[in-house]
Amino acid sequence: MSRPSRIIIVGMGVRSMIYAREALEHPDLFQIVGVADVNPDRVKVARETFGIPEENCFSSVEALVAVPKFAEGVINGTMDQQHVPTSLPLLRHGYDILLEKPFAVNRQEAEQLIECEHETGRRVMVCHVLRYAPFYRRIKEIVARGEIGRVINIRMAEQVSYFHESVSYVRGKYASPEICGSGMLLSKSCHDIDIMTWLMGGNDPVSVSSIGSVFQFKPEMAPEGAGTHCLLDCPVERTCPYSAKRLYIEHPQRWTGNIWHDIGRENSTEEERVAMLSNPENPFSRCAYRCDLKIVDHQSLLVSFKDGATGTFSMNGGSTASGRHIHITGTMGEIFGIFEEERFTVYRIAPDVPGGRTAEVVDVSKAQQGNAHGGGDQAIIHDFVTLLQGGEPSPCCTALDDSMTGHRVVFLAEESRKKNGATFLI
Ligand SMILES: NC(=O)c1ccc[n+]([C@@H]2O[C@H](COP(=O)([O-])OP(=O)(O)OC[C@H]3O[C@@H](n4cnc5c(N)ncnc54)[C@H](O)[C@@H]3O)[C@@H](O)[C@H]2O)c1
Repeated sequence: MSRPSRIIIVGMGVRSMIYAREALEHPDLFQIVGVADVNPDRVKVARETFGIPEENCFSSVEALVAVPKFAEGVINGTMDQQHVPTSLPLLRHGYDILLEKPFAVNRQEAEQLIECEHETGRRVMVCHVLRYAPFYRRIKEIVARGEIGRVINIRMAEQVSYFHESVSYVRGKYASPEICGSGMLLSKSCHDIDIMTWLMGGNDPVSVSSIGSVFQFKPEMAPEGAGTHCLLDCPVERTCPYSAKRLYIEHPQRWTGNIWHDIGRENSTEEERVAMLSNPENPFSRCAYRCDLKIVDHQSLLVSFKDGATGTFSMNGGSTASGRHIHITGTMGEIFGIFEEERFTVYRIAPDVPGGRTAEVVDVSKAQQGNAHGGGDQAIIHDFVTLLQGGEPSPCCTALDDSMTGHRVVFLAEESRKKNGATFLI
């Protein structure tokens, strides 16, 4: 058996911690041997959690690449707009990278990273963790085996629950391209578009058009008489679905961990949290309808593929619950399911049976066990280690060129949306 791979964390945030924790469960496979983060508190967390020696702790990527290479790979979990600037020096220094999605925030820098990967001969694996979830993995196998014939259309939707929407996409760090570098489609739904193009398997997208806007999170949609800050001046706070007090204090189990992490107060008491939400300077204290939202809260797109097949996708923010829906129509059958229900149905044309079709339910609940990404977060780091150790990664492994297919659709969909749905050739 080969010795454990040595991995460095760049950007010790929420996502990196999910991947890195696997090292504690599987020290025989990989170890976290270094960290670089601009936030000293996050460096400290990494050092204490993984026992990293002081000399392997850095306050920047520049400082990390100033010392000789001391690991095989890097997990890059910085925010979207830092992915390319931080990955370029790492590749040039000889590191392979597991890079969070979106791997770049525009086409130009995406191409720059791909070029650098080719030049250096290093490898970047993109964290399209949903590919690893048994739900999508099994669908991919069924489609690839031709069990529903040739794919005519893939219809997908992503429902973003009102509480997740409010934490991340209205009040939080993804609410503006100025903060995170991405729009909603790129930061939230590049997974879904990746799944669509992956399932089409080499049948490349050729055109895209998209429409979307801010429908709900604007001042004219606020409840009558609403104030500017829920805990300070709002007479209708008790009845508003977006009350910061109701969502973040009274129901702390729904995404609120991200709030306290993002403002560096994970271990605060309820009393302190009420005080923080009473501070008008805190972005999470604001009325959800008065956040001057810079990204859309709903968006739809229409994609055509080389052989004439089509794909449609809608992201709807502010829904009752989170849900990733998929309906694939093929010449010989259909697949229909909702990711969160952990099962899907395969319908097959069968003229001789009552009703004219058969239905087979594929249950993946035992494999996914309610995990938010169906276990994909854990599976992907194991695949990365396989790659570092010279093994053959799984068919879910997303190389940079492969990820670019979906990213290109997203970049052009954003252009199209800004031009009221004009069709762009890919
Ligand atoms: N794959 C998925 O399903 C999934 C889910 C959620 C988020 N994400 C993506 O993961 C990424 C990280 O999200 P997060 O919530 O963990 O963010 P985070 O804010 O918790 O972590 C980012 C970390 O990077 C550090 N950092 C910032 N600039 C840096 C720099 N120049 N060099 C080194 N460190 C730097 C920050 O201090 C912070 O600790 C984002 O790109 C996000 O879009 C992916």
